[in-house]
Amino acid sequence: MTTLTTTETVLSVDHLRKIYNEGTEQANMAIDDVSFEVNKGEFVCIVGPSGAGKTTLLRCISGLAAPSAGTVTFEGQRLTNVPDQLGLVFQDYSRSLYPWYTNGRNVALPLAARGMPKAERAVRVSEALASVGLGHVEKKYPWELSGGMQQRVAIARALSYRPELLLMDEPFASVDAQTRFDLEDLILKVRRELGITLVLVTHDIDEAIYLSDRIVVLSKNPSVVKEVVDVPLGEHRSQVETRSSDQFLALRSHLLSLVMPHGA
Ligand SMILES: Nc1ncnc2c1ncn2[C@@H]1O[C@H](COP(=O)(O)OP(=O)(O)OP(=O)(O)O)[C@@H](O)[C@H]1O
Ligand SMILES: [Mg+2]
Repeated sequence: MTTLTTTETVLSVDHLRKIYNEGTEQANMAIDDVSFEVNKGEFVCIVGPSGAGKTTLLRCISGLAAPSAGTVTFEGQRLTNVPDQLGLVFQDYSRSLYPWYTNGRNVALPLAARGMPKAERAVRVSEALASVGLGHVEKKYPWELSGGMQQRVAIARALSYRPELLLMDEPFASVDAQTRFDLEDLILKVRRELGITLVLVTHDIDEAIYLSDRIVVLSKNPSVVKEVVDVPLGEHRSQVETRSSDQFLALRSHLLSLVMPHGA
């Protein structure tokens, strides 16, 4: 018996170009020509050297910045502002949570902004914090938590309104190695449980392989797509076994050859 599987494109980036301060003497082309697609339920990582335009790309994908040329299509609609069904987690958790609000209130903010009634909000906040293993910190403040816990609160906030697509910019860059592994596994678990589509930017090639179904490799600035690499490691991954498998190591050397083309 043949099974027909249909893939639904959630996000489509088509010949995107971004020039900052266009038309002035300070004009700076951050992205030259980037195209790729993300299918429903997929986990795509974007890797590229510092300054390649990764944050710029995420800002264009989320509707926070307008492209200079090309288009971003989200769920079949050309993107012109930040869609409600999009979640964002930025690198700097210390600046993304409001210190004068409790963690629960921080998580509730996007729900309140969407006009959700208070009683429903309370249930959602508890669910979102529980899904990142932080059910007990709702009434505490962000500054009472460790960095990794604060980043989990930021993830809970992005998940609270059940986005179709979650965009993350270097979300685990400022935590220690052990916390980073834990957060990677947490995001894989959340993905399995909620079936959301994820796009994550990282400098770390090993992290990109561990997490993704596909990796978009960007060149240095102004960026173009060097290659889109398939990562057929299956749904269940484990930090020790997956990272030491032959398949993982082969992908790693291929990606290294792409980011270090001269064998540096
Ligand atoms: N608001 C801005 N105005 C003008 N130029 C900018 C702006 N933001 C970024 N740039 C420039 O765009 C280019 C790409 O920056 P971007 O922050 O997107 O890179 P990145 O790949 O995210 O880097 P990193 O890995 O260091 O985070 C850089 O040359 C940067 O100086
Ligand atoms: Mg960046």
